[in-house]
Amino acid sequence: MNILIGAAEVAPLAKVGGMADAVAALARQWSMMGHRVLVVLPKYRAVDVRAHDLCSTEHVVGVPVGWWTECARLWLGTLPQSTARVCLIENADYYDREGIYGNPEGYADNDRRFIFLSRALFEVASALGFSPDIIHAHDYHTALAMPLLKLVYRWQPRFYKTAGVLTIHNIAFQGLSEPARVLPLLGVPWEEFYPGSPWEYFGSVNMLKVGILYADKISTVSPSYAWEIRATALGEGLQGVLNFRGGDVVGILNGVDYTEWDPAHDRHIYVPYSAEFLAGKQLNKRRLLSEWAGMSELELHREVPLLGMVSRLTDQKGVDLLCHSLEGILAHFGVRFALLGSGANRYEDFFRYLASRYSRQVFVQFGYNEALAHKIIAAADYLLMPSRYEPCGLTQMYALRYGTIPIVRAVGGLRDTVRQYDPTTGEGWGFLFGDYTPEALWGAVEYALGFYGVEPHWERMRRNAMACDFSAQRSAEQYLQLFEWALERVRSERA
Ligand code: ADP
Ligand code: GLC
Repeated sequence: MNILIGAAEVAPLAKVGGMADAVAALARQWSMMGHRVLVVLPKYRAVDVRAHDLCSTEHVVGVPVGWWTECARLWLGTLPQSTARVCLIENADYYDREGIYGNPEGYADNDRRFIFLSRALFEVASALGFSPDIIHAHDYHTALAMPLLKLVYRWQPRFYKTAGVLTIHNIAFQGLSEPARVLPLLGVPWEEFYPGSPWEYFGSVNMLKVGILYADKISTVSPSYAWEIRATALGEGLQGVLNFRGGDVVGILNGVDYTEWDPAHDRHIYVPYSAEFLAGKQLNKRRLLSEWAGMSELELHREVPLLGMVSRLTDQKGVDLLCHSLEGILAHFGVRFALLGSGANRYEDFFRYLASRYSRQVFVQFGYNEALAHKIIAAADYLLMPSRYEPCGLTQMYALRYGTIPIVRAVGGLRDTVRQYDPTTGEGWGFLFGDYTPEALWGAVEYALGFYGVEPHWERMRRNAMACDFSAQRSAEQYLQLFEWALERVRSERA
């Protein structure tokens, strides 16, 4: 199949969260299976084109915006460790800026930056002579490729048989915009904007809604989240739109790229290890605590559980629960806590406070640091992920492969990937809690700590965790099945 992927993030070129990893893992798998994959993303200032061998070309494409045309120069290369082609679109006005979305509120012209990206997908395909069977869009950033395919580009022979598939990584971000601003950019006449039309959403244009309505198939990143966004308030107002698409909406669990996340071959961690050499995990913990956290030999002598967290510090990740319970947990259980994260100032301030108040127990680093993320996940005994909602979550799946026991809220992809350890049968590999309350979190932590170093359970659950297989290959295959169904839908439309 020829698969054109349009995304705002693709690891390792541009990453804020898990979407970058998920998109890259799929592109790698599909190209390994022999499919032709073209990944298109913006050339943000932060993309290290030299390190990734991406070269500027003579191709300059015209991208229609409203009644005029804007330009983008194409940069080409391959996705590291794969044969998938990568095309960066360069447009200094839109993308030569700090970061990807512009923190914390986002750039005021994000609607326009991503309309440009969505439209550029088609122009890039034409310029490179790529005829996609599938256009795979991700989140609101490229969702408008779905209506563009059906309403504008379908009439070009190259896209006549192309099917559009939209994957929702996080429905909380929908791309709401002023109609007076974006309708002219999209060339959509005002007559199309009326209550109940695809373009109207409570007086705004909602890019994700339009994408959902025009995609041939819609997926989200775990089966539980697929249900939650249709049946609960986690749908953030789009429940009705999703239910309107009925059977076209599916949940496919993200997969892990185990070439990147494997404790036996991880270039970032101190000592490689495996289920047969769990002592190696212990060594990673010691080295992290002494080298990164600056603990003395004397302090390390005492065997204390280490809770780890690698996360964006946002409401989604349940940080407010921690604000209400973590200090008590530290004081009561005497555990150590290592955090790598970045996000809202108030949350960073909270962890700063904890690190100064409990300086021998709490170690935090803010900012983005790939190598430290691997080190913390390898070193920690438990991974804490008390998310308010979690479409999929990759960090807990990485933790499992590293024998790090997840303590998570039973929501979305966390519910689908973490199974409660059962001391009667010795099955399971983590600890879950349901209510979004400090008490429920406390209870789960207390219960989980009760198993720390207690055999046969401790080794058993860590081995169970390491044996979990959430490989990207399985998820890539499920997407291919969805693509077949999307193509069937296009064929039946044409018949
Ligand atoms: P989300 O996409 O909602 O942030 P996921 O668990 O799906 O959550 O993915 C998060 C990804 O981002 C993981 O690869 C995790 O290791 C990484 N990550 C999060 N924060 C940081 C950070 N501060 N430094 C390095 N990697 C981070
Ligand atoms: C989003 C979600 C996260 C998911 C990731 C990749 O960032 O918050 O749960 O794992 O996308 O799909």
